[in-house]
Amino acid sequence: MSIHVKNNIHWVGQRDWEVRDFHGTEYKTHKGTSYNSYLIREGKNVLIDTVDHKFSREFVQNLAAEIDLAAIDFVVINHAEEDHAGALTELMARIPGTPIYCTHNAIDSITGHHHHPEWNFHPVKTGDSLDIGNGKQLVFIETPMLHWPDSMMTYMTEDAVLFSNDAFGQHYCDEHLFNDEVDQVELMEQCQRYYANILTPFSPLVTAKIKEVLGFNLPVSMVATSHGIVWRDDPTQIILKYLEWADHYQEDRITLFYDSMSNNTRMMADAIAQGIHEVDPGVAVKIYNVARHDKNEILTQVFRSKGVLVGSSTMNNVMMPKVAGMLEEITGLRFRNKRASAFGSYGWTGGAVDRIQTRLMDAGFDISLSLKAKWRPDGSALAQCREHGRQLARQWALHPLDESRPFTTTQATVTRAPVIAKAPQAAPVAGEWDDDQPMLCTVCQWIYDPALGEPDQLVAPGTPWAQVSDSFLCPGCGIGKEVFEPCGAEACV
Ligand code: FEO
Repeated sequence: MSIHVKNNIHWVGQRDWEVRDFHGTEYKTHKGTSYNSYLIREGKNVLIDTVDHKFSREFVQNLAAEIDLAAIDFVVINHAEEDHAGALTELMARIPGTPIYCTHNAIDSITGHHHHPEWNFHPVKTGDSLDIGNGKQLVFIETPMLHWPDSMMTYMTEDAVLFSNDAFGQHYCDEHLFNDEVDQVELMEQCQRYYANILTPFSPLVTAKIKEVLGFNLPVSMVATSHGIVWRDDPTQIILKYLEWADHYQEDRITLFYDSMSNNTRMMADAIAQGIHEVDPGVAVKIYNVARHDKNEILTQVFRSKGVLVGSSTMNNVMMPKVAGMLEEITGLRFRNKRASAFGSYGWTGGAVDRIQTRLMDAGFDISLSLKAKWRPDGSALAQCREHGRQLARQWALHPLDESRPFTTTQATVTRAPVIAKAPQAAPVAGEWDDDQPMLCTVCQWIYDPALGEPDQLVAPGTPWAQVSDSFLCPGCGIGKEVFEPCGAEACV
C-alpha cells in the first residue's frame, strides 16, 4: 500500500514491527522500524531507495501493483546498506538496464553485496543533478560518514523535499507516516537514541555537512528519511536538533553504570548518587546495572550527561567484562565535553577501578578522583561514598549550588585514588605546527604523515599539512581537511 507524501511523491516502503536487532545485535530496536522507499512520478518515474533485503519479494510485488516496473526510468540509491539497497537484486531482475544513481563508494558496496557489476550504474557527486521533467530536478549531496562512506542525500527542487536517508531518521514504527501524527515524546526519544548510538562519532562532520547544506539556501518543505517518520511539520526542527546534539551536547544529568559481583559496588553506586542528590537536588541522576539494562539506553543517557561514573568489582584483578565492553563502545562513540570518574569494591586487589579510570581518560573524558571500597561497604564507608558524591556534584555543577543544609562525613575504609594526570595535549594553532606534524582523521583514524604525503592526490612526500590543498579528501573515509586534528601522543602510536 502506498502513502501519498506530496504532489507526485508516494511512500512505497515497508514497516517492520517486529525487528528487535540492528547491526547484528548491537542496536536494539524496541519500537521496530520502517524502510522508507519513495516513488516519484513526474515526466520521469524515479524510485528513491528500496527496503531491507528480507522484504525484497513483498516490496517488488507491491511496487508492481503501484506502477508498471518497466516504466521506472531511474533508481536512486542514497545508501548501499542492506536495509535500503537490499531489494535491488529482486528489483533489477525485473528491470535490469534501468540506470542506478548513487555515489562512487556505493557502487563498490552494492556490487560487493549483490554481485552484479553489469548493472547500469551512474556515479554522482555533490551538486550533480538529474532532470525528471515538469521543471523539476533531483540534486545529489554526498554525505560521507553520515553514516557510511557511500551515504548521500537527494534534494527534489520545486517540491523542496530532502530525501535524507539515515540522517534525521529513527528506528520507530507507526501506522502514521508524518511527524505531526505520532507520539512526540516517543519520536524524540528514538531520534536521540539513534543519534547517540550511531552518529555521535561523526558529530564534527554532522555540523560541517549541515552548514554546507544550509549554505545552499534551498527551501525545505519536507525531510523524507529512510527510517521512521517523514518530517513535514516544521521539518527544520530535526536539523536544528542535530546541530545542537553535534555541539558537545550535555544536560544537567549524571549517569552511573556498573556491574557488581556481590552487590557491594551497587551499594557504592546508590550512596554516591545520594550524595550527589543531597548537594544538587536539581541534577538528574540515573543508575544502571550494565548486566541487566538495555545498552543503547545507557549510551543514550551517557550522551545526555555532563558526567559519568563507571563502577566495577575487581575480578581476576581486572574490571568485569560487561563494563569493559561498555567502555570500548564509549571510546568508539567519542563523547566530548563530559566529566568521568571510576568507583568499585574489591577484596584482594583493586585493579578494576584503576583500569576504568585509565580507559575513561583515554576515551577523552575529563577525569575526577576515583573511589575504591574494600569488601562490603559498612556504614562509615557508605558515608564516605556519599561524601564522594557531594564532592563530584560540586565539581561538576553547571550552576551555583545552595549548600545551606549540613552534611556529616565519617572516616571509612575507602580510598580516594589520586587523579591520574592526563597527558598534556599540545594544542597547536594553525600555522604554528611543525612541518612534520602528523594529522589524524577524527572520523576514520587515518593518519596523514607529511614525510609520505599522499601521492594518490598528488601531495608530494615532505608536504606539511598547512600546504595540503583544501580540496584534500581523507583516503580512508573520503572526508575533507576539516575533520583532521594534530596527532596526540596516544592517538598516533
Ligand atoms: Fe539504515 Fe545505514 O542503514
